[in-house]
Amino acid sequence: MTNSFSFMQSLVFVISFAVLCGASKSDACPDLIQRTCRTIAKTDTNVNYNFCVGSLQHVPKSQRTDLQKLGAAAMKVVEANATGTYLLIKKLLKKERKISRKTRLQDCLELYSDAISSMQDAVKYFESKSYDDVNVMVSGAMTDSDTCEDGFAEVGEASPLKKNDADMLKLTAIVLSIVNMSRLYGLG
Ligand SMILES: *[C@@H]1O[C@H](CO)[C@@H](O)[C@H](O)[C@H]1NC(C)=O
Ligand SMILES: *[C@@H]1O[C@H](CO)[C@@H](O)[C@H](O)[C@H]1NC(C)=O
Repeated sequence: MTNSFSFMQSLVFVISFAVLCGASKSDACPDLIQRTCRTIAKTDTNVNYNFCVGSLQHVPKSQRTDLQKLGAAAMKVVEANATGTYLLIKKLLKKERKISRKTRLQDCLELYSDAISSMQDAVKYFESKSYDDVNVMVSGAMTDSDTCEDGFAEVGEASPLKKNDADMLKLTAIVLSIVNMSRLYGLG
């Protein structure tokens, strides 16, 4: 472990969750999403607590029981988000007439297609606990959205995907943090 601060944070997180929620099934047991997001917001300044909780709000209760399930669910949230952006780009491409923007949108379409398949692979690797491979896949999806956004800046065009790209950056950061915590949990 290179980062001892987040290591300790994660350790405290895992142990206190196990103590609070291992034995009792009462309502006093804090939601795993809230606890996870609190830890992520503390360790990653790019991720805001409310954004984190909001993005995971539709994860079903059955997948909020442990980090392994939550991690896989979060990856599916990212995949769905990337798919939404992919469809939006297709729509934008149909009506775009300006060649410089059209070229950028075409690049973004490919990048998001790549991000979608990376997230699908990430879930598979995560289920087999190949955490290094998961990190490569999720980091790849993160880079894809960043590259999409940079393309518009390079040609001096306002990005029509600014919010989508920014959301992807934050969503993939959340997933990377959950993967880190799960890896630690797996060691215990
Ligand atoms: C993507 O995620 C962001 C942040 O949670 C959300 O605001 C947006 O609606 C999502 N888009 C899709 C298509 O799921
Ligand atoms: C995950 O942990 C590694 C070291 O164990 C660290 O270098 C990396 O920054 C962490 N990433 C996140 C997103 O927490």
